[in-house]
Amino acid sequence: MAAAATAPAVSRKTETYTDTKRRDDVRGANIAAARAVADAVRTSLGPRGMDKMIASGDQAHEVIITNDGATILSRMSLVQPAARMLAELSRSQDAAAGDGTTTVVVLAGSLLRRAQTLLSAGAHPTAAADALHRLATRAVDVLHGMAIPVELSDRESLVKSASTALNSKVVSQYSSLLSPLAVDAALSVVDPAHPDLLDLRDIRIVKKLGGTVDDTELVRGLIFDKKASHAAGGPTRVENAKIAVIQFQVSPPKTDIEQSVIVSDYAQMDRILREERNYILGMVKKIKAAGCNVLLIQKSILRDAVTDLSLHYLAKAKILVVKDVERDEIEFVTKTLNCLPIANIEHFRADKLGHADLVEEVSVGEGKVVKITGIKDMGRTATVLVRGSNQLVIDEADRSLHDALCVIRCLVNKRFMIAGGGAPEIEMSMQLAAWAKELQGMESYCIKEFADALEVIPYTLAENAGLNPIAIVTELRNRHAKGEKNAGINVRKGQITNILEENVVQPLLVSTSAITLACECVRMILKIDDIVTVR
Ligand SMILES: Nc1ncnc2c1ncn2[C@@H]1O[C@H](COP(=O)(O)OP(=O)(O)OP(=O)(O)O)[C@@H](O)[C@H]1O
Ligand SMILES: [Mg+2]
Repeated sequence: MAAAATAPAVSRKTETYTDTKRRDDVRGANIAAARAVADAVRTSLGPRGMDKMIASGDQAHEVIITNDGATILSRMSLVQPAARMLAELSRSQDAAAGDGTTTVVVLAGSLLRRAQTLLSAGAHPTAAADALHRLATRAVDVLHGMAIPVELSDRESLVKSASTALNSKVVSQYSSLLSPLAVDAALSVVDPAHPDLLDLRDIRIVKKLGGTVDDTELVRGLIFDKKASHAAGGPTRVENAKIAVIQFQVSPPKTDIEQSVIVSDYAQMDRILREERNYILGMVKKIKAAGCNVLLIQKSILRDAVTDLSLHYLAKAKILVVKDVERDEIEFVTKTLNCLPIANIEHFRADKLGHADLVEEVSVGEGKVVKITGIKDMGRTATVLVRGSNQLVIDEADRSLHDALCVIRCLVNKRFMIAGGGAPEIEMSMQLAAWAKELQGMESYCIKEFADALEVIPYTLAENAGLNPIAIVTELRNRHAKGEKNAGINVRKGQITNILEENVVQPLLVSTSAITLACECVRMILKIDDIVTVR
């Protein structure tokens, strides 16, 4: 070492010796772990992909069945940090685009495999990482080159892309119902003042056991997954409703600090009860005086939001009561009803109420829900009532619907579509390989290798559909070489066709974000050469 330090820096290769074994080991271990994760979800890619059953090992014994990459990875208990990065990658794709969460992980796994080859062939990790960076930028250009513009008024195209997202799900047989439903729900919340903004928080999904997924419906109004209060024979159906959303408690007040009041004789006891009655009666009278006949009460953590006594008086006043409305629902509810939440009885005024034609309790499956329909000046929100014969199906229908809604959100944000079925990946792969030939040296070599890695998507799609992957990918390359940019794998016919004619389209944003995120994650993994554990 001393000799190396004093020697003039002529040729480092001969003069110095650095032990790179540990760095290689760390990098190798990271890549191996990340690839193992990618391999685990690979089989669930595509319309003929397999589903995973996830069973939690703890006491809850929770079981879910899903095809969603992000869900599978988020449930895996991963320890290796690089493996966790892949799970994070899938989550970022979920946040950025919502769909393509399996694709992004499979891509990253394939890029890592090629990176391993490059490293063992003597490429420096930084060179490989830089090549990936250039490749990602160029790949996005290629995708833009094959994108098709779409208008939000073109409902048919939106439905097509939603059904592509749903076709690879467990609930794919219901995609003809769920895709138009997702499109209608999404479009109904887009504000004409902000046409490129779709906030999925404005769409609420209420899950109710019973029936089949076919019974899923889009409700023009509001649904509460709870019963109305039946205490003292209160009303369960109110026409021409004036609805108040309250955040205070209709119950006797409590002292601020923990205290006990000792009552020693009956006269005092009577007085307390009378006071309590008068207090509640006073509140109910104020509520009634404002014309309110439906009361939605926020759940309280301080004390009981309602007591038996207050429910009794409210029932006598013919006011329908829905209690225990969650705090985080309030914003959605007030937006839908176009009313203001009331935080104090003193502020209870008629102008803060919402109006609806009908509020009624209806039986759905095994339980009951409260439905509010015919809302006057309804806000831009939508509610979807998801039904299913068991909880596993309902949960998966919910997750799939989320994917479909995300696809519409992508199209609202960026109004371009792209063909699916492996067409974009093979096109990128071929154009990037052609570009690599124009470059020189190590960069050209790296880019060629990474460009080949993108073939993993069509390869896996074919493999999962039970086709011969090598024959299919070769044929696909041929067709693209002839200039058929939209040739893709038709899994139903088991051959290569123009995939646009099959109506398999996906948002451009899903593909661009998948390739950029995958490249970024792989670059990060390549640049790690040591793991330092700290306490
Ligand atoms: N009918 C179809 N024919 C051919 N390819 C299809 C068809 N439907 C979807 N695909 C392709 O399947 C891939 C998507 O598969 P899948 O939905 O299982 O995974 P993902 O979208 O990456 O992840 P996830 O949906 O779990 O977030 C895309 O490459 C898409 O082009
Ligand atoms: Mg998908």
